[in-house]
Amino acid sequence: MAAVPEHIAIIMDGNGRWAKARGQERFYGHIQGVQTVRNITEAATEAGVKYLTLYAFSTENWNRPKDEVEALMKLLVKTIENETERLNANNVRLTTIGDTMRLPEPVRLKFEECMKSTENNTGTTLNIALSYSARWEITEMARKISQDVKNGLLDSGSINDSVVASYMTTKAMPDPEILIRTSGEYRISNFLLWQIAYTELYFTPVMWPDFTKEDFFKIIADFQTRERRFGKTGEQIEKI
Ligand code: FPP
Repeated sequence: MAAVPEHIAIIMDGNGRWAKARGQERFYGHIQGVQTVRNITEAATEAGVKYLTLYAFSTENWNRPKDEVEALMKLLVKTIENETERLNANNVRLTTIGDTMRLPEPVRLKFEECMKSTENNTGTTLNIALSYSARWEITEMARKISQDVKNGLLDSGSINDSVVASYMTTKAMPDPEILIRTSGEYRISNFLLWQIAYTELYFTPVMWPDFTKEDFFKIIADFQTRERRFGKTGEQIEKI
């Protein structure tokens, strides 16, 4: 049987447009989006996906209207409050990546509480990207590596791919095999630029609030038919 991907990353897009198309405020779309987060986390668990990384709030999202940022922050707190019990019941561990020190304290504390409560769960890791951007992450990596070199903790001659990866926020997880973006946009928008070097990309026109477990399972099934060559020839891969 084809292997289940270990790590799937998702750019959840289209909440605002989904709501507007229904004559509603953008926030209504985010509320529906939370429902999809719950469904897809369940789907990842059912499929045996070890890591699910969701792009919930980008560095650039801080530039949205103040009201929307505040409403999103409140929604994050409420969601974590409501969902921690279910995460534990489903053996899901919560982690975050991103510049979380920029988050308002109640949001940061709520996430820390949930991470602590779920840290021993051994099923799917739900990894939420919060105040995250790949350029922020890469800049941090450069800063930390140069500090460690300066302090004699790292020899500049020994810096290679795996050393760089060990300075990334995703150091504890494999690179994603699949990246999904919903809502018909064909952009990466500053997400996991280092980690997606060999990732299979899936762009679907479905808006995030409408994205279903079936859509998710179909993408996994399609991935299982794709041949990943990592720069080698098809013949070389067949021999492995
Ligand atoms: C993109 O839609 C969505 C967001 C920027 C926010 C996503 C956040 C949630 C669904 C809440 C997640 C909660 C947890 C706990 C992970 P958009 O507003 O960019 O839509 P648009 O492109 O149509 O304007």
